[in-house]
Amino acid sequence: MQISMTDQPAGPPSRPTIQAVTGESPARARAAARALGSPLAEGRRPPGPLLMVGETDAWLEMDGTEVRVAFDSASMRHRRRGGQNELLGRAVGVKAERKPLIWDATGGLGRDAFVLADLGCHVTLIERIPVLAWLVNEAVNAASVSAYQQVREAAARMTVITGDSLQTGVPPDAVLYVDPMFPERKKAAAVKKDAVMLQRLAGTIDDVDQLWSWAWAQPVERIVVKRPLRAPVLGSQRPSHTLSGKSVRFDVFVRPRHVDPAVGTEV
Ligand SMILES: C[S@@+](CC[C@H](N)C(=O)[O-])C[C@H]1O[C@@H](n2cnc3c(N)ncnc32)[C@H](O)[C@@H]1O
Repeated sequence: MQISMTDQPAGPPSRPTIQAVTGESPARARAAARALGSPLAEGRRPPGPLLMVGETDAWLEMDGTEVRVAFDSASMRHRRRGGQNELLGRAVGVKAERKPLIWDATGGLGRDAFVLADLGCHVTLIERIPVLAWLVNEAVNAASVSAYQQVREAAARMTVITGDSLQTGVPPDAVLYVDPMFPERKKAAAVKKDAVMLQRLAGTIDDVDQLWSWAWAQPVERIVVKRPLRAPVLGSQRPSHTLSGKSVRFDVFVRPRHVDPAVGTEV
C-alpha cells in the first residue's frame, strides 16, 4: 500500500472514536477504548473516523469508507496465488534456504508484513498510529486461528509493536523494510479512499528524511525501501539495485557488514 498526501491539508492526527457494533456485546469495544485511550461513543454516530468493534470483527470507518485488516481474506489469498509477493520476497532476499528476519519500520495495515511472514520470514512490525497497530494485532490474533494452516503459520511469525521506529534499534541480522508515506501531489479523486483515511489518522507528519537518516544509521546489511514507481529515491545514497513492478518499486541498499567504530570489529 502506498499512502499519498493529497492537496488537502491533512492537519493534526485524528483519534478515532470507538463504537460497538449494534446488537453485539460492547465488552471488546470497551477494552479497545481503554487500550487506545479513545472515547467510546454510545447511541448516535459521531462525525470523524470511527473504529467499529464487534465481538469477532473490527474495522475503521469514515465518510462511508471501511478499512479492514484480514489476513485470510480472499484478496490476500488471491495476491499469494497470483505470485504478486515474489518481487517483495526477492527484494528482501528470501530464498528457498534463507528466510531473513524482517524489521518492518512502517507497519501500516500489515499487508507487506503478512506477505513476508507468509514467505517464511519472522517479521517485527512497528506502527506508530495506535489504532492501526491495534487492528493489525487483532488481525494477527484472528489469523492465528484461521481455517488455513498456512495463514496460522504466518501469523505465528509476526510480532506487532505500537511505537515510533525512530526509537527502536534494529537487530544487525535483520533486513530493514521501509514503506513511507509519499508526499505526492495529485488530485484527491485519484488517491485511494483507504489511503485518505489513513492520512487523516496520521495527520501531517513530514519526517521521511528523519526516517531515512535513522534507517541508514542501523547496523544492518540490507535496507529495502518501497516507492511509487516514479518517485525519487529516498535519501542521497544510490540503491544497489531496484526491482520494479507495475506501480511500485523496491530500492535495495546492500552495505558491507557494519563495523562498530568503538571496537573496530564487525558486529
Ligand atoms: C505506506 S504505510 C505502510 C503500509 C504497509 N507497508 C502495509 O503493507 O500495510 C506507512 C505507515 O508507516 C507508519 N510510519 C511512518 N513513520 C513511522 C515511524 N517513524 N514509526 C512507526 N510507524 C511509522 C505510518 O503511520 C503509516 O501507517
